Amino acid sequence: MFNLNNKDATPLYRQLFLQIRDQIISGELPAHFKLPSIRAMAVELATSRNTVEGAFQELCAEGYIYSKSRSGYFVSYIDQELASSSRVIHPQQDLHPKLAERYKYDFHPARLDPEVFPASLWRRCLIDCLRSDAGDFSQYSEPQGEWGLRCNLQFYLERSRGVHCTPDQIVVCSGLQQSLTIVAQLARGRHESVAIENPGYHLPREVFHNNGFNITPIDVGIGGLNLSTLKSTSSTVVYITPSHQMPLGYVMPVANRLELISWSKTGERLIIEDDYDSELRYIGRPISSLQGLCSDGNIIYQGTFSKVFSPALRLSYMVLPKSLLNDYHRLFQGHFCQVPLLIQRAMINFMERGHWEQHIRRSRNFYKKKHEIMLQSIGEYFGRKAKVIGQGAGLHIILELAESLNDELAFVERAKQKGLRLLPFSEFYVSSQTEGNKLMLGFGGMKINDIPEGIETLATLIH
Ligand SMILES: Cc1ncc(COP(=O)(O)O)c(C=O)c1O
Repeated sequence: MFNLNNKDATPLYRQLFLQIRDQIISGELPAHFKLPSIRAMAVELATSRNTVEGAFQELCAEGYIYSKSRSGYFVSYIDQELASSSRVIHPQQDLHPKLAERYKYDFHPARLDPEVFPASLWRRCLIDCLRSDAGDFSQYSEPQGEWGLRCNLQFYLERSRGVHCTPDQIVVCSGLQQSLTIVAQLARGRHESVAIENPGYHLPREVFHNNGFNITPIDVGIGGLNLSTLKSTSSTVVYITPSHQMPLGYVMPVANRLELISWSKTGERLIIEDDYDSELRYIGRPISSLQGLCSDGNIIYQGTFSKVFSPALRLSYMVLPKSLLNDYHRLFQGHFCQVPLLIQRAMINFMERGHWEQHIRRSRNFYKKKHEIMLQSIGEYFGRKAKVIGQGAGLHIILELAESLNDELAFVERAKQKGLRLLPFSEFYVSSQTEGNKLMLGFGGMKINDIPEGIETLATLIH
C-alpha cells in the first residue's frame, strides 16, 4: 500500500505521512476508515514503530486522522471538494536558471574552494553551541553582536592587523552592505559626498547613492587612491581598500596612508577602510591596517569572514571610532543584530579553540599554490600578450592585455561559450568606459588542476 525509500533524503516518517495524507485527500482512504495498528503497519512496511508513530502523530496534529482510545486511528472526515482545491502543490525543484549555468573554468573573483572549508570542525562548533547554549535561543541576542565574539575579534585584529580598539567599538554585521548602511545613517546630516575608488567595488557606490549621498569617483594608481584628486574634491568621506585595492590589487604605501590620515584630520572627515581580504597575502608580511596608524582618528575599519571562511555565512564586523559611539548607540540602540546567534556563538567556539588562525594559515597555503599556478600558466600561455598586475594577495589577479579588446561584453560571451566565466572589468568603473585591456581572473573557486587548461583556453581567445 505504501512505499518507503531509505535512499530518499526525506525522512521515512515524513514519506509515510505524505503518502497517507495524499490518499486521504484523494478519497482513496474514506472518512472513518480504520488504519492498521502502528505495530501491524511497521511489520508490513518493514520499518520501525517510531517511523509509523511519527507519521500518525503528524497526521493527527494536522487533523487528517483521529484516535479513539483503545480502538486505534481513523481517517477524519474531509470535504472532498475543498480538499481537492487545496491540494498541496509540491514546489518546483528546477535549479535556479543562474545556478544551472555551469562553467568548467570559473574565474569569478568571489568564489572560495569548498575543499578548504573546515566542515567537520565547524559542525562540531555548531553542535556544541546548540548543546550548551540552547537556553539562549529563546531570547534576542545582543544588538551590537555577541560580546564574546567582539572580544575574540578585538584580540585577533590587534595581533594580526594592528587594529587598536576595545570590544565596545566593534559591531557585528551581516556583510559590507549592512555595515555601510549603518555608516550612511551615521554620516547623514554631517556629510554629503562620498569619494570612492574608480575602479572599485560596486557596493559602496550603490549603498551611499541609495542613501542620498553624492558619489565622487577617484582614480586609482600604483599607490592606490589618488590623493591629489581626492583633495581637489569637496568629499568629506572616503571609502578605500588600502591593503589590496579592489580590483587592481595595489597596496597604498605608508607615506600615502599618513597623508590620507592627515587629510582626515581637517574638519570631521571620515575614512572607511575596507580590509576585506587581508588574511590572504602570499608575498611578504601582512600589511598593517590604516586604523592601526591612527587608532584615535576618524577611521571606520571593515572586516569580513567572506574571503577566508564563507561568503554564504554573512558574517562581518566593523570597528567604529570612539567619536561615533554615542551616535551609534543613539540611532541603533533598539535595533537587532542581523547575524543569527547560532552563527556568532559557533564562531566564538571556532576562534577560542584556535581553529580560526589555523584555518587562516591553511587557507593561505592552499590559495598560495593556486596563485602560483595562475602566474606560471599565464607566463606559459600568454607570454608577451599580457602582464599580471595586482598579484601576491587575495583571490584574484588582473591581467593587463597588450592589446585592448574591441568589445568586452562580446569577449565575455565568447569566453562563456568555451566554458569560462569572466566578470566584465567595466563593472568596476563608475561609467562603463574603460581602456578594455584588463581581465579580472579569480582563482579561489577554480580546481587547481583546471587552472592551466582554463588559462590556455582563455589565451586562445586573445589574438
Ligand atoms: C572590496 C570588498 N569588500 C568586501 C567584500 C565582502 O563583503 P561581505 O562581508 O559583504 O561578504 C567584498 C566581496 O567581494 C569585496 O570585494
